[in-house]
Amino acid sequence: MKNLSNQTSFCKKIKFSEISKLFYYFCILKNIENIMTFTPTKYRVQCVADGRIGEDTGWMLDFPNSEKPSLIRAIYEKKQLEVKPENGGLYRFADWMPLKKLLKDASCPVTYKSEKLAKKLGLKNLYITFNGYYPAIGAKMRTCSFKETEAYSVCARLSDELRNQVMVVSSAGNTARAFAQVCSDNNINLLLTVPEDNINALWFEKPLNPCVKLLCTESGSDYFDAINLGNIVCEMDGYFAEGGAKNIARRDGMSTTMMSAVTFIGRIPDFYFQAVGSGTGAIAAWEANLRFIEDGRFGTNKARLMVSQNKPFTPMYDAWKAHSRAMLPYDAEQARKDAAEIVAKVLSNRKPPYSLAGGLFDAIEDTNGDMFAVTNDEAQKACDMFEELEGIDIYHAAGVATASLIQAIENKQVKADDVVMLNITGGGEKLFKQHNDVWYLKPNHVFKVDASKEEIKGFVKTKLVY
Ligand SMILES: Cc1ncc(COP(=O)(O)O)c(C=O)c1O
Repeated sequence: MKNLSNQTSFCKKIKFSEISKLFYYFCILKNIENIMTFTPTKYRVQCVADGRIGEDTGWMLDFPNSEKPSLIRAIYEKKQLEVKPENGGLYRFADWMPLKKLLKDASCPVTYKSEKLAKKLGLKNLYITFNGYYPAIGAKMRTCSFKETEAYSVCARLSDELRNQVMVVSSAGNTARAFAQVCSDNNINLLLTVPEDNINALWFEKPLNPCVKLLCTESGSDYFDAINLGNIVCEMDGYFAEGGAKNIARRDGMSTTMMSAVTFIGRIPDFYFQAVGSGTGAIAAWEANLRFIEDGRFGTNKARLMVSQNKPFTPMYDAWKAHSRAMLPYDAEQARKDAAEIVAKVLSNRKPPYSLAGGLFDAIEDTNGDMFAVTNDEAQKACDMFEELEGIDIYHAAGVATASLIQAIENKQVKADDVVMLNITGGGEKLFKQHNDVWYLKPNHVFKVDASKEEIKGFVKTKLVY
């Protein structure tokens, strides 16, 4: 009794704000404890083309001796997803992510039921999964796009051995920013290769840890020149490629968007809307859907993948409308010209994982989905409508997805009662920049597009010190 009254008077003495501070520190300590005690997720890998199953031998990106091009997929031991909020951020979905350890500050997609946009579009069940910065709904991605989900997953897949080497990521924007932030915060060696014309996408809330370095290809070059530069560096000892869509951690990180939606709604949605550049995010949503069917508690349907591109850069849309697994011929010069015209630049991938087994063609086909093409004007109008009704700025890519939903309603593919999931893949940059001063990452070196392998390797060997 004495103890209790002591406690009460102690509580009376400390103010409420102090209690909330204590609670905040308690949560941080709890999160650190979970990070320290995390047991790695158990999984095996499967070749989608021929069904072979084996152990992940490390940073496995392909199954050895596969007869045709194929993705590999993680098969998790745990069939029923157990959401673990105590793991922090997107690691609440760790059961279905190929992780070795947890990293700090991992943010998470946030799903909510739309009222205003839903009403405007005449939908009764519109769910928005928001990836970006919108603190009012609990969305805190500091790099403002769903690329952060890949970065937190890929970086958590690294073994201690790989952490002693340097991971190479080539990107035209959002991916580079996400990886740079996560690697900087968690002291992971990273080399980014980015076209010089895109480096204005490399803004951050504060200066980065020097374990993040940047090489550029000169102004006028494109994403593929940056990939080429990254590939040359990966031939050197101590450097390895992150792997893109082939990396199971990348896709299963992105599948947290679907995990967020399904666990929030309580069922697999009827439709999934997203704008695609490589299609990796949509493939990831499909793979999560297949896991939910096995889970057994959220229904047995496959959400129809409704994916969109920005006109005139529409290579996957063109192939899909011709019902062709193979991409149609696309002249490189024309592709560069078309890419320069679109507002959603992040959707201009010339070599997406569309045709290979387990790729986007299979995903749309298996879910009875469809593809849409959206003009710059339609995308801009959709962005404006979203900001006015949902209260936050979104990227043009997310505007493309919203415009495709409008098209699908107009052409009666989607009905008022359907359960619709709209993946807002990025947003809140305007708000983030109002809340924070930003700092820009500067290149360690800019190479000419015709730089020789010797020159590139010589520079990396002598000048980049990790
Ligand atoms: C905001 C945003 N939305 C959509 C996409 C397209 O994603 P994916 O390449 O997985 O198709 C990207 C790609 O960078 C993106 O940054």
